[in-house]
Amino acid sequence: MNRLCRIIVAFHLVAAIIAGPAAADVLLTPEEISRTLTHGPWPPAVGPDPSNRVSGNAAAIAFGEQLFHDPDLSRDGSISCATCHVPARGFSEDRPRAMGRVALDRNTPSLMNVGTHRWFGWAGDSDNLWAQSLLPILNADELASDAQSLKTMMADGPYASTYAQLFGPSSDHASETVLVNIAKALAAYKETLITGQTSFDRFRDALELGDMARAADYPESAQRGLQIFLGKGNCAFCHTGPAFTNGEFHDAGVPYFIEPGRVDPGRHGGLKALLESPFTLDGAFTDDPGKRGAWAVRNVRRTHLDFGKFRVPSLRGASRTAPYMHDGSLPDLESVVAHYNTIDMERLHADGEAILMPLNLSDDEVDDLLAFLRSLSDDQPVAD
Ligand code: HEC
Ligand code: HEC
Repeated sequence: MNRLCRIIVAFHLVAAIIAGPAAADVLLTPEEISRTLTHGPWPPAVGPDPSNRVSGNAAAIAFGEQLFHDPDLSRDGSISCATCHVPARGFSEDRPRAMGRVALDRNTPSLMNVGTHRWFGWAGDSDNLWAQSLLPILNADELASDAQSLKTMMADGPYASTYAQLFGPSSDHASETVLVNIAKALAAYKETLITGQTSFDRFRDALELGDMARAADYPESAQRGLQIFLGKGNCAFCHTGPAFTNGEFHDAGVPYFIEPGRVDPGRHGGLKALLESPFTLDGAFTDDPGKRGAWAVRNVRRTHLDFGKFRVPSLRGASRTAPYMHDGSLPDLESVVAHYNTIDMERLHADGEAILMPLNLSDDEVDDLLAFLRSLSDDQPVAD
C-alpha cells in the first residue's frame, strides 16, 4: 500500500469513527417524517381528570397504590388487582386469559398509559377510569366484594384515617359513594403508570428538531419497519397518535369464538354495559359539574357492526405484555405480525374493515416491522 493510499484509508477510518459505527441515514421521506411527528411527543401532557377530584393528589395516589396490592379488598382476602395486573409485566400477565375465581373470557390488558384512553376495557364498558376500576371489585368472578363490605372496611382499621382525610368520614357516605371513592383513589394511582421515552421517541424528537445526525442513530431496520407501519402495512390507520391507538373499536380479524357455541360480542356488549351504567361521565358520580367528556356517551349508538370489535390497543410497552389480542390467542409479536401478514378475509365481518388485507411481507420486511414495534418498548420497565 503506498503512502497516499494509507492516508486515504486512515482518513476514512477517522471519518467512520466520527460518524459512529452505523453511519446510518434517515430513510424517511418528508411526508413520512411529518406523519412520524404525530406519534409524539411522549410522554403526553395529561392534566388531572376533572371527573375525579382526587386525580393527581399525592395522598390519593399512595392510597390507591396500597389498595391495588391489597387482597383484603376482595371478599375472602384472596385476590388483589395486582394478582392479574402484575407490575413486572407491564401490569398485565403472561397467561392468555385472566384467571379469577374461574377462567375469564379475556386477556388482562396492560395498565401502562391507561390514563390516556377515552374508553376502558377491551369492549369499552366505561368512559372513565374510576368507573372501570369498580367493575373488578364487584365482579363475582374477580374480587367479588360489595359496597357495604367496603364501607365497613373504611369505617375502622388501617384505611379509615386516610379515607377520611381524602373524602371525609365514611360514616357520612352511602356505601355506593364509598365504592366510587375507592375506585377514584385506584384511578389516581393508575394514572401515574406511564411508560418512558424509547428509541423511537428520541428519533421522533430529533426529526422535529431537524437534527438528522441524531435521528440517524435510530437503526435503519426500525426505520424501514416504521415505513411499512405508515405505508403498505397501513397499521397507522388504527394505531394512531402518541399512544399508537385511535382509542376506538375495530375488528382486527381475531376469531371471536370463546369456545364452541359462545362468542365474545366485543363492543356490542361493551356499549350495553356502558349505556346501563350509573357511573358514566354523564351520571351523578362525576366530580365535574360541567360534565366534560360526557358528549361521547350521550352520542354512542349500538349497531350490529359493533359485534366482534375490540378497542385498538396501545403499542407502547407491547414487548413486555405478551400474549396479545383480547383473547390472548397470539403468543408473541412475531405471531401478531404473521396474523396481519396472512389475515383471513373470511373472518373479517365488519363492513368497515376492508382496510385489512393480507400484506404478503417478505421475511426481511417482517423483521423490520418487528424492529420498529420493539423500539416502542425499549424504555426502562417500571420496577415491581
Ligand atoms: C382476575 C384477574 C383480574 C383482576 C383481579 C383485576 N383485573 Fe383488571 N382487568 C382484567 C381483565 C381480563 C380485563 C379486561 C376486561 C374487559 O375488557 O372486559 C381488565 C381490565 C381492566 C382495566 C381496563 C384497562 C384498559 O386498558 O382499558 C382496568 C382499568 C382494570 N382492569 C383495573 C383493575 C383494578 C383497579 C383491579 C382491582 C380492583 C383489577 N383490575 C383487578 C383482569 C383482572
Ligand atoms: C383496522 C384497524 C387496525 C389496523 C389497520 C391494525 N390494527 Fe393492530 N389492532 C387492532 C385491534 C382492534 C386490535 C385488538 C384486536 C383484538 O383484540 O381482537 C389490534 C391489536 C394489535 C396488537 C396487539 C396488542 C396487544 O396488546 O394485544 C399489535 C401488536 C398490533 N395490533 C399491531 C399492528 C400492526 C403491526 C399493524 C399493521 C400491520 C396493525 N396492528 C394494523 C386494530 C388494527
